[in-house]
Amino acid sequence: MSPQPEGIRGATISGTGMYVPERVLTNADLEKMVDTTDSWIVERTGIRERRIARDDEPSSEMAVIAVRRALESAKLEPKDIDQIIVVTTTPDRFLPSCACTIQKKIGASNAAAYDVFAACTGFIYGLGLARSLIGSRVAETILVIGVEKLSSIVDYTDRNTCVLFGDGAGAAIVQPAQPGQGILAVSMRSDGELGEVLEIPAGGSARPMDEAAVRAKDNTIHMRGKELFKIAVRTMEESLREALNEAGVGMDELKLVIPHQANQRIIDAMRDRLGVPADKVITNIDRYGNTSSASIPISLDEVVREGRLKPGDHVAFVAFGGGVTWGASVMRWTMPAPLVPVEPATLVSARRS
Ligand SMILES: CC(C)(COP(=O)(O)OP(=O)(O)OC[C@H]1O[C@@H](n2cnc3c(N)ncnc32)[C@H](O)[C@@H]1OP(=O)(O)O)[C@@H](O)C(=O)NCCC(=O)NCCS
Repeated sequence: MSPQPEGIRGATISGTGMYVPERVLTNADLEKMVDTTDSWIVERTGIRERRIARDDEPSSEMAVIAVRRALESAKLEPKDIDQIIVVTTTPDRFLPSCACTIQKKIGASNAAAYDVFAACTGFIYGLGLARSLIGSRVAETILVIGVEKLSSIVDYTDRNTCVLFGDGAGAAIVQPAQPGQGILAVSMRSDGELGEVLEIPAGGSARPMDEAAVRAKDNTIHMRGKELFKIAVRTMEESLREALNEAGVGMDELKLVIPHQANQRIIDAMRDRLGVPADKVITNIDRYGNTSSASIPISLDEVVREGRLKPGDHVAFVAFGGGVTWGASVMRWTMPAPLVPVEPATLVSARRS
């Protein structure tokens, strides 16, 4: 935890956007692919369906749509952006960065663009970084993008993992704020000792991709689910308490908690431990599954467009992920609620027409 020193200016979210691909992969579809059932998946995870990107739709393509929506909501142009921080585990490729690819596609020619790897905790890390850069006056307008094409790194013959993940993108614009407004606290933590509970064994410099790696499916996600489950509940509780303490905000003052969407049972266990009522905790895992670094900004954009946050409300984000990484952030919301709430479903059908 790094408290914002006295005299450092504040930062807030001034625009949000999201995108999920049109193709829906249901539990019934998965029943035909692996030895599983709809009832097992719903009972053990809460997931009913997830979105899968087209073959010609890499992470950058999904991100561009989310970014356009975020810029529109903040009433900004691509040239207004000073920095683009992309948090992802599935960049289009490793060179150039996904952020540079997105920069080119949107024409954000004044920005410095780079990727940050913190797996599912990525959005919290991106927010923490953006807050520091705004606070120290290095930047005025930062785009934080969480985007994942997890379908490109999932083994669709492994029932332990393939039922969990989906694709999508979420974006937030971070700009300066008055003292005491916007991002009040960010807690960022990691424990590399636990790295092997969630990993992609091959494809990096330690073990470059080769035929043997592909044959062994070591280019896909390997996970020790049970262990991760326990780590998730413990770390999310811990970091949310830490961020609230740092922000000086009580649990009962929170209007909404937006957790990383990994498993409904993880969210419920965390909620029980924290004593937060269910109606304050946002879940959309039934529709999108686990979209890793995109899950919090996707959920945030949905609640913003539904008009569920108004200026002065306290909202918390909390996540865990591979690394192992975890973290939380507490905000005093500053964006005005939309005059006419826009249902996310409207967004999806508008895109289809
Ligand atoms: C993966 C997870 C859903 C499994 O749930 P669980 O209750 O822990 O289930 P278990 O691992 O105990 O498996 C129970 C049984 O179900 C089986 N099983 C696993 N996936 C299955 C599936 N899709 N359909 C049917 N059975 C399945 C297992 O093989 C096991 O069978 P066995 O007892 O014969 O060995 C859960 O552990 C989890 O969500 N962990 C965290 C994962 C996560 O968050 N990953 C992303 C991090 S950002």
